[in-house]
Amino acid sequence: MADDEKLKRERAGTYRTQDGRFTIEQSATGWLLLDGEQANELGLPLARGPFATLDEARGAISTARSGPRPISDLGERRAAKQASARASGAAPDRATGSRAGKARKAPPRPTGRELLIRELRTVDGDALRALWRSAGFSSIGDDDRSLARLARRNPGLVLIATEGGRVVGSALGAWDGRRGWIYHVATAENHRRHGVASRLVGQVEAGLRDLGCPKVNVMVRDENEGAREFWTARGYGLGPARQFSRELGET
Ligand SMILES: CC(C)(COP(=O)(O)OP(=O)(O)OC[C@H]1O[C@@H](n2cnc3c(N)ncnc32)[C@H](O)[C@@H]1OP(=O)(O)O)[C@@H](O)C(=O)NCCC(=O)NCCS
Repeated sequence: MADDEKLKRERAGTYRTQDGRFTIEQSATGWLLLDGEQANELGLPLARGPFATLDEARGAISTARSGPRPISDLGERRAAKQASARASGAAPDRATGSRAGKARKAPPRPTGRELLIRELRTVDGDALRALWRSAGFSSIGDDDRSLARLARRNPGLVLIATEGGRVVGSALGAWDGRRGWIYHVATAENHRRHGVASRLVGQVEAGLRDLGCPKVNVMVRDENEGAREFWTARGYGLGPARQFSRELGET
């Protein structure tokens, strides 16, 4: 029964079931029910909804539980990550990926307007494309299927920033086994110069470092002075090579 599903409040707008499998999260379009143990056909955590109310989303859990068995290793991956965080003696900070220090202060009371950094989900596609349009980006690979493929191949590296459920930033990290790449770093205009891109990129860099990636590349247009300043401030420098590229077309 849906009523048996007791939810723990993680922070404003985010609730989790006691067993940790389901998360209900408020988004700009409504409440989403995220299944940590089931993947969609693209291999990403399955999102159901949006639902108009929290209760409606909770009501959908029992149906989700009686559905087919989990088809992905997402649950195992999360459990392994939590076990390794426990073994190292500190839980990872969800926002920065950094380890907590010795003495911890009680966290401030959530207001629902905090900046959250999280992995991209398929439901984010439209909001991201709107952000990218306003930032002047438009690339092959911006469609939902391509974004899902990128996220599936690069767990923990394809990130967005949200505030009050709205997407306000993005940084798409990727590791090809030799170099790391960061694509589509953008911050909503009214959120710039508050460290949003720095937090996103810092988290991608930390993830790449954990994977053993020795070097990270970004592509910056010559005329994009603000971006050049941003990357320079983060310690990036102009390399000797110019980028050659070719479109391969439909496969
Ligand atoms: C470039 C961009 C992503 C920066 O995002 P942001 O969230 O404002 O960046 P941060 O607040 O983390 O900036 C960190 C530091 O970078 C530097 N910086 C960032 N934007 C800058 C700008 N427009 N001019 C000069 N320096 C800048 C500053 O040193 C800043 O620190 P400060 O604010 O304390 O001075 C944002 O301006 C943007 O979305 N631009 C349009 C899209 C784009 O060009 N993306 C880059 C593609 S390669």
